[in-house]
Order: sequence, then C-alpha cells, then structure tokens
Amino acid sequence: MFTAIRNIFRFTKKKESNRQINNDLSVLISDVHSHLVPGVDDGSPDMETSVALIRRLQDLGFTKLVITPHIMVDLYPNTPEILQPKFEELKAEVAKQLPPIELFLGAEYFLDTELLDLLSKPSELLTFQGIDPMNGEKMEMILFEFAFHLPPNYDLLAEIVFKMQTSGLTPVLAHCARYPYFHKDRSELKKLHKKGVILTVNAATLCGKYGALAKETALHAIENGWVRMVCSDTHSPHHIASVKELESSPILEKMIESGTLLNPGIGLS
Ligand SMILES: [Fe+2]
Repeated sequence: MFTAIRNIFRFTKKKESNRQINNDLSVLISDVHSHLVPGVDDGSPDMETSVALIRRLQDLGFTKLVITPHIMVDLYPNTPEILQPKFEELKAEVAKQLPPIELFLGAEYFLDTELLDLLSKPSELLTFQGIDPMNGEKMEMILFEFAFHLPPNYDLLAEIVFKMQTSGLTPVLAHCARYPYFHKDRSELKKLHKKGVILTVNAATLCGKYGALAKETALHAIENGWVRMVCSDTHSPHHIASVKELESSPILEKMIESGTLLNPGIGLS
C-alpha cells in the first residue's frame, strides 16, 4: 500500500505549472488537533475566543473537530475530570451560537513516565475514534507529542507505543516535522511509521511557518507515505490562517487526490 502512496507523491517533485489550485477543505471533514477548550492550556483563553475560532474552522468547511488540550504533568496537569465539564460548557455554547458542528474531546499527551502510568488505565484516557477510509479499519486513537528541545527517551517511547497498541489504541504523533532533531535524521520518523504510529503534520508547517527545515521534513514524510493527517493545531487565529492557505497548496491537493488522508474518517465509529 505504501509503495503506491510513495508513487503518488513523487509527482509533487515535478515542476508545477502556474495553474490555479483551489482545494475544497470541506472534503477533509475533520480537524484533529486543536486547543479550543477555554483556559486549560496555551490555546484559547476564554469562551468568546473559542467560539470565534470554531466559527472560523467551520467557515473553512470543517464539520467535525477533535479538540485536544495538552496533558503535561508540569505545565498543564489536566485530567479528564478537569477537562470534561469545560468541554461540555463549550459544546453548549457552540450549539447556541453556531450552526451544527460535531465536537469531540481528545487530548495531546506529552511523552513522559506519567503517560506510561496513565496507560495502566487505558479506558480513562481521552481518545477519539475513526475509520480508515483506505481499508475500513476501526481505530481508537490517542494523540501524543514529544519535547521540542530534546529527543524522546527511545526506550520509553518504545514501551509507550507498545502499551498503546496492546491496549487497542492507535498512536498518533502530533506535528511530526516540528521536532528539530528529526530534521537531519528522519530515520526515527520512518521507524515510527513502520511500527504503526500515525504521523500528522500541521498546516502551518506545510506553509513554511516553522521554517524551511520543518517544511522539508514534512514533505519528505509525505512523499514517503508516512503522513496520514493534516491538522490545524489551532491555538490562535494565525493557525487557522495557515489552514486557509492550504486552499492553494499543491501538496494538500496531492494528499486529497491520493485518498490516503485519515481526516475524513475521524469521528466515525
Ligand atoms: Fe497541539
């Protein structure tokens, strides 16, 4: 399957003509990474901002959003008990103010020993469901991230991925091209893909907002068929502006054409 995907993306290396690209973002259906529960992390600070940001994602065509607050013991010691009531408040406010949109509560788990502890009770984790449009496989997914300044402890990573998978969860790595230590050595991304970890990229990375190396790494991972989701990672309006920029992106055009994106299958069970 992934050889076919690679062949599709090799075309992106061909010189693009000046033709106008007009991607319809509504075909993505879902955005799967955002910080829109008000006041719980470094994302939206209040309800008014959250509703305004959700309105903008809705205007771009998204009809399902998985909202993924940080869970990181030192900085954002969130738990399902803290997040769930705030998420319900958000849902109620969105239902009052906006046209129908489906909201799901996930989380962005930081990879550390705390996460290993949390995995001892997998049913208590904030996960989200989806069906792979390529093969109809049902998945229960969990989003996780690494530190930016330091590579992960690879033994711990292997243990956590194993624990996730043996608990019936599909690991989903947040913004795989934003980690500086993967820019020169992309072999770890390949290894993660081979182990069954779903790699995702942020819209802002594809737009070059995190620099040329991050964008090149994202393209490398996409061309090799390792990336299955494009996410907004919305913290504030500029992340949504990057999603809007993808309307004219040849890379996203190829990803949509390939039929490999998981976005449209998220929220299905
Ligand atoms: Fe995030």
